[in-house]
Amino acid sequence: MTRLDLGIPGLRRDPAAPPSTVGRPDVPGLVDRFGRQARDLRVSITEKCSLRCTYCMPEAGLPAIARDDLLSAVEIARLVHIAVRDLGVHDIRFTGGEPLMRADLAEILARSSAVAGGASISMTTNGIGLDHRIRELVDAGLTRINISLDTVDRDHFARLTRRDRLPAVFAGIRAAKEAGLTPLKINAVLMRDTLAGAADLLAWSLENGVRLRFIEQMPLDADEAWARDNMVDAAELLDVLGGRFELSRPHRDDPSAPAEEWLVDGGPATVGVIASVTRSFCEACDRTRITAEGTVRSCLFGDEETDLRGLLRGGADDRDIADRWRAAMWVKQAGHGMGRTDFVRPKRSMGAIGG
Ligand code: GTP
Ligand code: 5AD
Ligand code: SF4
Repeated sequence: MTRLDLGIPGLRRDPAAPPSTVGRPDVPGLVDRFGRQARDLRVSITEKCSLRCTYCMPEAGLPAIARDDLLSAVEIARLVHIAVRDLGVHDIRFTGGEPLMRADLAEILARSSAVAGGASISMTTNGIGLDHRIRELVDAGLTRINISLDTVDRDHFARLTRRDRLPAVFAGIRAAKEAGLTPLKINAVLMRDTLAGAADLLAWSLENGVRLRFIEQMPLDADEAWARDNMVDAAELLDVLGGRFELSRPHRDDPSAPAEEWLVDGGPATVGVIASVTRSFCEACDRTRITAEGTVRSCLFGDEETDLRGLLRGGADDRDIADRWRAAMWVKQAGHGMGRTDFVRPKRSMGAIGG
């Protein structure tokens, strides 16, 4: 398979040319043409992963990014600094692939948190190996963590992730809890076979004091098996969970947070649903993304990327980098467009974006 087949796109036609800023007001924040402002930065730091979830990665993994093409810890921290100081970003989340695959993760966190002001520093991970590293990561400034777990059935886990590693994930979750990282959120992607185990997963989450969120599967799997007709939606999930738990709607306090929360059996525990496909939250989107190779990706589904790594390595000053980032976000698309007849899947798969 070629690199392109696996969904690592090229950059914009001339990545060095800034996107047009016609009509953009002269404000410091990452505003776009639809009145939104990005304050939540997601930084992907690697394409590597210890699992091969079928809804995300190809069996062989993604093609390796050459070491020199990856942003270094110093470069990542410089972008975090610019984002927080000049662009109004107040939440930083590290993603992958799997962020724990980077040996210098603690250095990335330490350098970033040193320049992040009051911004939160979080990570989305599969939890494998977390128990051995949690101390250094917390010491380096990690404040919150989301862990992906789709089932508590070992055989199902092994089939879905193509790796028999459920005990390692449990160990990671336990370690994160013991380290006091709260709220600890669990992400479960909805699929036909996860639906059968959804109530068990919720029961396990309640017992273990973690906040479970189900995510509608998006067409971002490298294998391109996603089909709208076969997709499990939030309504179907709520039906299944309703068979075992009493669900009631609490007040929703953050309109840009993707998850809708239900109280379980009167609360205080909740279960969330991120209904990205059937109930898009794009009009309230507040995200900006940096890929592991140092491009700005303004939307999960937007293949037009803007290179910052060239600026970082070419001696540009912080002002030029901030301006290029603002220009990239100004042209952010209105939304994912999944319901449109002319919808085209993005070239990058989820593993190469980071969620
Ligand atoms: P919290 O701040 O803890 O709520 O984090 P989060 O939910 O933003 O982050 P996480 O990395 O846990 O993301 C969970 C899932 O939400 C991702 O895997 C995606 O499936 C979905 N998601 C996150 N950001 C976006 C987005 O901008 N657009 C869409 N459509 N889905 C998103
Ligand atoms: N659709 C929805 N969510 C996905 N994730 C990975 N692939 C998909 C997909 N196709 C989720 C993972 C992880 C987060 C980073 O992205 O479960 O929690
Ligand atoms: Fe934002 Fe794009 Fe995600 Fe919609 S699909 S919420 S616009 S990043």
